[in-house]
Amino acid sequence: MIALGCDHGGYQLKQEVAAYLRDKGIPYEDCGCFGTEAVDYPIYARKVGEKVVSGACEKGILICGTGIGISIAANKMKGVRAALCSDCFSAEATRLHNDANILCMGGRVLGVGLALKIVETFLNTPFSGDQRHVRRIQLIEEEK
Ligand code: RB5
Repeated sequence: MIALGCDHGGYQLKQEVAAYLRDKGIPYEDCGCFGTEAVDYPIYARKVGEKVVSGACEKGILICGTGIGISIAANKMKGVRAALCSDCFSAEATRLHNDANILCMGGRVLGVGLALKIVETFLNTPFSGDQRHVRRIQLIEEEK
């Protein structure tokens, strides 16, 4: 199960991501927002973060205008490793190296085609499990 969340700046792209997940038969939970009226992105970062940290959802996808605010907010939560990605190399690397559990994107930054490739890469790349990466992730978690 994938948790989806956005603010007004990410709403259109979130709808595209939801359609992509439906098309692929990947189950998701849409945590809002549900329109283009201005809302506060930390609220949606928290909703998705809680789904991921509790284990209710395996991964999350968060989208705001730039992806920056919503990633900053999500990363305040213990157990969240949110990665802002604008390219497929980073999406692959953050899964392999950081075991990122939330993908963040900028709805005003990315075209739909690239964004969906980033989603595909993020969801299909496993964590490497390499000892050095496990150690570094543990160090991050200790600091939160
Ligand atoms: C909303 O206007 C915008 O600030 C938000 O979507 C995001 O880009 C913040 O980082």
